[in-house]
Amino acid sequence: MTEKFRILGGETLKGEVSVGGAKNSVLKLIAATILVKGATKIYNVPHLTDVDIMLNVISDLGAHCTYDREEQSVIIDAHNISSITAKYELVSKMRASFIILGALMSRCKEAIVALPGGCAIGERRVDFHIKGLEALGAKIKIENGYVHAKASKLVGTDIYLDIPSVGATENLMLASVTAEGSTRIQNAAQEPEIVDLANFLNTLGADIVGAGTSEIIINGVKLDSLHPAEYTTIPDRIEAGTFMAAIVATKGKAIIKNVYPAHLTFFNDKLIKMGASIKLVEPTTIEVSCRNRFNSLNFVTQPYPGFPTDLQAIAMTLLTTSNGVGIITESLYENRFMQVPDLRRMGADIHQDRNHAIVKGVKNLTGATVAASDLRAGAALVIAGLMANGETIVEKLHHIDRGYEDFEYKLANLGAKIKRFDDVSFNGNSADTASSIINIKGGV
Ligand code: EPU
Repeated sequence: MTEKFRILGGETLKGEVSVGGAKNSVLKLIAATILVKGATKIYNVPHLTDVDIMLNVISDLGAHCTYDREEQSVIIDAHNISSITAKYELVSKMRASFIILGALMSRCKEAIVALPGGCAIGERRVDFHIKGLEALGAKIKIENGYVHAKASKLVGTDIYLDIPSVGATENLMLASVTAEGSTRIQNAAQEPEIVDLANFLNTLGADIVGAGTSEIIINGVKLDSLHPAEYTTIPDRIEAGTFMAAIVATKGKAIIKNVYPAHLTFFNDKLIKMGASIKLVEPTTIEVSCRNRFNSLNFVTQPYPGFPTDLQAIAMTLLTTSNGVGIITESLYENRFMQVPDLRRMGADIHQDRNHAIVKGVKNLTGATVAASDLRAGAALVIAGLMANGETIVEKLHHIDRGYEDFEYKLANLGAKIKRFDDVSFNGNSADTASSIINIKGGV
């Protein structure tokens, strides 16, 4: 069964939407729970395919996980870690599961973790993770597609990252929690998810300072001094940015709850320059609106606090109908313009040259059948469908389900005409047009 979205464009979004817990944070928090010999509870855990995969990874190591969808919480009892192997079958489904390497090294001083390989958006190497672990004293062998890391003890040291890699910072932070002495990570990533992981680890008894700056110091503590705790994940800044863009894209006006505006400063600034209005209603609630055709602008994706690469495809979609020409430079990934051919099929005027894209605003996009090539490109095509005249079918929803919980319901609550269907239900209504199918099923 292949599921698709059918979207009827042209609706103005209004109302209220609430953002869930940060996917890119919660995945690392789940991995970090294996440092504790006891039951840890995490709140604000969205129900996503990627979360399921990470829970499977740690269950496979011996942890016991209970997810409560209604409460959006998970209890993880990692008293018994009986395996040190993260299998290819699981790691290949989600490269973020490579984070288990650092967690296992902290807990067991040995780990066998499948190498994740490349992915659609780029090469995504893990060399900094490996070099950092070696600097901490681990012996590393790469055999049969697996990294085998082992150490009688890890000893704190200075580690300089060539690029402020999010995953490497997190893996090395996790590995250093129980190392002897202090570890200093220089040119560390500064993303809010790094701060969240450090705060979580400190709640469990770790001693980490400097997270959120380019220099993080992890003072090693004894494994047995770590203890269970309860913790609430930060809101997902990329989901928040996605809804902000969707509201702006449809010239709507709506409230977004459970957002930390400070995590989106750069993106907010660009939206405002495009003509959007963003008002702070409460500390974690904003009102977003846009009335006129957007102004074009240029931007370069950069590590936090720069323009987030995870919102690049979504911002490109807005530029497709802007007033003028905008130039986008993608500086983090080699291949993150996968949305371009589909946006062109919807009428966008985009010229791509390596990691630069020149987007010339057109008056309207028109609906077409398109396919998500990765999570954020998929979300961008959904927004394009909301902007377009007529019907858009977005295929390959499994990419979108990795990172957006109840995406279509949240959009539908804002007034979007969007419906998930599978080939079976589509064939059952094969003579219907999109709009009639949406009406037959009672609207969305
Ligand atoms: N890099 C290396 N060597 C390394 C590590 C990274 O060359 O050892 C390169 C990568 O190839 C990439 C760049 O450094 O070109 C940045 O990679 P980084 O390690 O910072 O990214 P990541 O940890 O793999 C996380 C998010 C991504 C997000 C990036 C950048 C998670 C699970 N993923 O990936 O999120 O794009 O940081 O902000 O946290 C998404 O949610 O759609 C997504 C892709």
